[in-house]
Order: sequence, then C-alpha cells, then structure tokens
Amino acid sequence: MRARKNTIPAKAIDAVEHRVRQLCWRYADKLQFHGWHHVSFVRAKAAGFAEHNGADRTVVEVAALVHDVNYIVLRNSPAAAGRDLRLGILRECGVGETVARRIDEIIDEAEMATRGRHISLEAQALSDADTLFKALPVTPVVLAHRYLRENGLSLRELAHKIVGEQRDVHDSGYYFYNPKAAETYSRWALANLQLWQCIKEAVDDPNVVELLDAVHAVDLEAEPAAS
Ligand SMILES: [Fe+2]
Repeated sequence: MRARKNTIPAKAIDAVEHRVRQLCWRYADKLQFHGWHHVSFVRAKAAGFAEHNGADRTVVEVAALVHDVNYIVLRNSPAAAGRDLRLGILRECGVGETVARRIDEIIDEAEMATRGRHISLEAQALSDADTLFKALPVTPVVLAHRYLRENGLSLRELAHKIVGEQRDVHDSGYYFYNPKAAETYSRWALANLQLWQCIKEAVDDPNVVELLDAVHAVDLEAEPAAS
C-alpha cells in the first residue's frame, strides 16, 4: 500500500461541496437521479473505499463531488460532457490546475461504460461507490423512474443500457475493485443485474408492452390535473 496523501486542503473541499450542493438544488429538475442525494452517497462511500485502498482520500472526495456535473450540461451524457463546468468549479474553489486535470481523468477512468480492470486507486474508490449506488436494492424501486425521466429513456432502453454496460464487467470479476465491497455487495449486484435482465426480457412480451402503455396513458391523463 502506498503512502496516504492529502493533496487538497479542507477549505477547498468544503468550497467544492458548497458549490456542487448549490448547483444540485438549482438544477434539481435536471438531476432527478443524479442530484445531491446521489452525490453525497457516492462521496461518503468513496471516501471509505479510499481509506481502505490507500488512495488519496481528498482527491477521491472531490472527484466524487464533481463526477456527475455533466448531467447539468447535457441530458444522458458521458462524464466528459461536464469537463468545462467541472474544471471551472475546481478552479473557482481553489483546487490547483494539475490536481483538477487529474480529478477529471479519474472520473473518466471510473466511468461504468468504459472502465477497465486496471485503473488508478482513486478511480477504483470512486467507481466502487458509484457502482454500489446502482446496485443498491432500493435504487430500482425508489429511483429508476427518476433516471428514465431525467435522461429521457424508455424502460427498454434503460434495461439494455444496464445489462449491456454491467454484465461483462460483472462476469469478468471487476464489478467492484475493493475485495471487501465485492464480498459485501456482490449479492445485491447480481440480484440487480438479474432484475434488469428480466425487465429486458419482459418488455419483449406484447402484453407487457400493452400494460406499460396503459400505465403511461393514465400518467399522461393525470398530469394536467396535477400541475
Ligand atoms: Fe454517479
């Protein structure tokens, strides 16, 4: 394990937290899934994983705070779409240019759709926390419909995205990098993947499609009354 460093001073971390929290509230309608509830969960878990794997905890925490600002910039986008906003926040909060660029790279490395087996310790800590949020058993129940609304996806598209991005990573054995996280959360991860695999199959049944259309029609009917 390498020596633990604390590259970013507490004052700058607090400033980033304050700025991101502000943005999450201001753009709450665009961040129904990736709002402050997501950011603060990922930050807390990523800090714990960083303590465990010897990554620079301060870098991991700040990366977690700014990892999803792309959803403010562009709906259903990759992390890279938030680069300018991310670097702007870090600059404004007193994080040095080199560290800020490194944080942006860590966020790219940790992205579910493209992450590999060998990524930096900081990216591993961030990835494990972000992946855990996806695998929580409460996420499909309480938050999946928010993901659909936030990103303008159909249930079929989301099921294909989740299974497409996560199945290989899971089967290749690096769904979680941290062995303790793998031991603790793999059962949830597998249940979650199986659920989405079942959803993917279910939306091919014409009667299920009819059922979902009927639910959608009721929602549309109810909308004007609710607003
Ligand atoms: Fe995230």
